[in-house]
Formats: sequence, structure tokens, C-alpha cells
Amino acid sequence: MARLRVGVLISGRGSNLQALIDAAAAADFPAEIVLTISNRPDAQGLERAAKAGIATQVIEHGRFASREAFDAALDQALRAGRVELVCNAGFMRILSAGFVEAWRDRLINIHPSLLPAFPGLHTHERALQAGVRLHGCTVHFVRSKVDEGPIIVQAAVPVLAGDDAEKLAGRVLAAEHRAYPLALALIAAGRVRVEGERVVTEGAVPATGMLLNPKAEC
Ligand code: GRF
Repeated sequence: MARLRVGVLISGRGSNLQALIDAAAAADFPAEIVLTISNRPDAQGLERAAKAGIATQVIEHGRFASREAFDAALDQALRAGRVELVCNAGFMRILSAGFVEAWRDRLINIHPSLLPAFPGLHTHERALQAGVRLHGCTVHFVRSKVDEGPIIVQAAVPVLAGDDAEKLAGRVLAAEHRAYPLALALIAAGRVRVEGERVVTEGAVPATGMLLNPKAEC
């Protein structure tokens, strides 16, 4: 079966892009990364993509007169690359309603919190501030409201005594690198559908058990 053609939008480090590249290197992975686009020329993720032999493009938002014009250039590049699904991976631009609608249910994002908690920036600092015991990440379909949209996969990690934002971010990032390839694989295998703004997943997804924090044996 043909593999789903994926375009990844990045702005920086690209560790989630790397997780997707690594997952897609397996012969039986149902998706392939065919294009990486960055809005910043210095994004480290561009090197990761090039190293993996993936086409890269830089589309600098500052060169466009409006958000819509930038998004139109993105759209054109994705279509030219025959991209079927777009993955935002640390892409730090808000997409216009027109773009989001054009790619409805074919555009996903990873966010470093258990949505709907902590949309927006500085999620790890805010999780620590709120005193939550569990934190994590969410892969979701993109809608025009930022960090909203049907949830495909979530991964939870404990918040531990002595955590600072950096330690917590590292634990969440490791979870992101597992959650994003899983979400992509489920979509590419045709096992995800959106019903009334909720995701229904076909077939069994391996149960990883309950995460309880603090531990019960105390
Ligand atoms: C990740 O934490 C992602 O959830 C957020 O931005 C960060 C990007 O990291 N949207 P990377 O560029 O994938 O390493």
C-alpha cells in the first residue's frame, strides 16, 4: 500500500521531526516524510531533514506582507510536494483560518501539555505553578482556535518533587517523541476518524496501563 505523504512544518530544534523521521525509517511504517518547511532559515531541524534525504524549504514569514500571503506560500509548497498530511512540529506561527480550513483533518499539531489544560506558551512553568501531579503532551487536529481541536493521542508523565521547568520539559519531550509517531501511524493506517469534533480510533491500541502519581505504596 502507498505510504501517506507527510509534510512537516518546523521553526527550530526539530526533535519531534527527528522522531517522525526515525519512525518512518521502518519499512512497515505507513507514512513517509516527503517535505520539511521552516519559517526560519536557521532552524536546526532543516539539517536533520537534509541528513535524512528529505526535501527542505525555507519560507520566511517576514518576507510576506500578511499572514494570509505567507500561508498561501505554505499551501502552494505543500501542494507542489503532493503532501497529504501536514504535521506541525514546533512550528511557531499561528495559521490563518483559511489555511486551517483548507487542510481540515489533514493538519495536526503536538502541544506540550495535556489539553485542554495549559494551551499557549510556557506550559511547563504553568503546570509547576498550578501544582498538577500529571503533565504531558497532546497530538490533535488543528482548528482555527490555537491549541484546540480533536485529540488523537495524549501521553502523561508525572510531575516529581524537585522538578524545575527544564527537567519537566525533558520528561514531556521524551513522551512527545513517542506520542507523535503513534498518532501519525494511526492516521496513516486509516484508523482515525473525526466524529463531532472527537476522534474515534479503530482497532486496538496497546494499553500501557494507568499512571498514578504519587505512587500508591505509601
Ligand atoms: C515541543 O515541545 C512541541 O510540543 C512544541 O514545541 C517544541 C518543539 O520541539 N510545540 P522540537 O522543535 O520538536 O524539538
